[in-house]
Amino acid sequence: MTIAVIGTGNIGGRLAAVWASNGHRIILGTRDPASEKVRALIAKHPERISAASVLEAAAASSVVLLAVPASTAHAVARELGDVTGKILIDAMNAVFRRPEPYARTSEAIRAASGSDHIVKCFNSVGAENMDDPRYGGQTADMFLCGDHSEDKKVVRTLAEECGFTVYDVGGLEKEPLLENLAALWGSLAMGAGLGRNIAFKVLRR
Ligand SMILES: NC(=O)c1ccc[n+]([C@@H]2O[C@H](COP(=O)([O-])OP(=O)(O)OC[C@H]3O[C@@H](n4cnc5c(N)ncnc54)[C@H](OP(=O)(O)O)[C@@H]3O)[C@@H](O)[C@H]2O)c1
Repeated sequence: MTIAVIGTGNIGGRLAAVWASNGHRIILGTRDPASEKVRALIAKHPERISAASVLEAAAASSVVLLAVPASTAHAVARELGDVTGKILIDAMNAVFRRPEPYARTSEAIRAASGSDHIVKCFNSVGAENMDDPRYGGQTADMFLCGDHSEDKKVVRTLAEECGFTVYDVGGLEKEPLLENLAALWGSLAMGAGLGRNIAFKVLRR
């Protein structure tokens, strides 16, 4: 699968590397394809990772990850161009800075792109989990929501390939739940001092 990774920071960088390890072709959609951090990412998997503009990366991919500051969600989603037939993964959190005038990043993406093929995923825990969700003998949980089941199947597989146990919590109206989970993660990691190597696990009996 060819995946456009828009945003080459903590989340985008780690997911790009792990997805490339899993055999996917990654095109980093970046403001500066020649930057040092972009070259360092390409060097991890030169055969599978390349860099381009946001427009070029999205055009060449069937899946587009948006991992940019939530406040920039609308502007960046506008740069994607025609996203017909593409799955848009929203990994952003608007807990601290909203994508004004929108309350939620998925709303901003939908307004800018005209697409509702949006799956919220990879937002609920810290970036350190993306390339290593193992905790002893257990695997961290990942949660996703979206309005199209075929889209969610694809994203579920991408998360399972990273090593997560994945739960589909419903339609995009569930997005605030996933964002609150991210806020809880931040409160535990930083506020309560547990550190960033923590994640969530659903227990069932
Ligand atoms: N960090 C976490 O643990 C974590 C966990 C879950 C969710 N999230 C969410 O994931 C998203 C990305 O977080 P992150 O920690 O990866 O952020 P980050 O390290 O700051 O990276 C964001 C990337 O977005 C791109 N970008 C595009 N337009 C930008 C602009 N106007 N200003 C700044 N960067 C811009 C940049 O890549 P280029 O320079 O290549 O364009 C930048 O590297 C956020 O919405 C965050 O809430 C983060």
